[in-house]
Amino acid sequence: MTLLGVNIDHVATIRNTRGNREPEPLQAALVAESAGADSIVCHLREDRRHITDRDVRMLTGMVQTSLQLEMALSPDIIKIALEVRPAEVMIVPERRQELTTERGFDAAREFDALKGAVQKFREAGIGVSVFVSAEMAQVEAAHKAGAETVELHTGPYSHAKTTAEAEAELDRLETAAHRGWELGLEVHAGHGLNYHNIERLVRQIPVEKVNIGHAIISRAVFSGLENAVRDMKALVASAS
Ligand code: PXP
Repeated sequence: MTLLGVNIDHVATIRNTRGNREPEPLQAALVAESAGADSIVCHLREDRRHITDRDVRMLTGMVQTSLQLEMALSPDIIKIALEVRPAEVMIVPERRQELTTERGFDAAREFDALKGAVQKFREAGIGVSVFVSAEMAQVEAAHKAGAETVELHTGPYSHAKTTAEAEAELDRLETAAHRGWELGLEVHAGHGLNYHNIERLVRQIPVEKVNIGHAIISRAVFSGLENAVRDMKALVASAS
């Protein structure tokens, strides 16, 4: 069955608009877990626009499922990750001007840096996932660098304007997922997934996990986080 990882970055985004202590990302993580989230995801960005070092330390100490720390391959973030030891890191590319992670990590081009970092994380007992676009070469490079997991970038599927485009993107994702499985990787998917497009994805491509943030936190504004996580979990479970 496909598992659900809940990204809580946007709870921190709201908190940071007022610079105080609410809403608290840790509380969001605990509520999400009690509503059925299988893991919690947060992204410690170099500009600390949402999740802060304090959040990461608190989350690592309190999350009971598993914490996945999304991060760029930058020396100070690698240092923090090795210190706090989340269950898993997810390597993403980062650009200051972007609103959210826009593209997959170029595992083929940045192979040496990736391989070096993967080795450090694995020696520290931290799992490594690499967020890549749905391309064979990227999946293969992530595997060759020593990662155990790839997260396939579902942005192009999520943003498809027509059914034909969405189907073409699903086929690309499926081909990349199969290559990952052939290589013995765990395959996750994420970016732009929501209550309308999740079932189709999971039905066609039974990935081990989907990571979802914006749609869940947005629905939580109206229905509460617990209901928002439960609703998504039910959709993922029924489709997989
Ligand atoms: N996976 C990765 C690698 C991401 O960068 C993000 C966005 O933080 C997500 C999944 C979740 O995307 P969304 O917020 O669109 O659900």
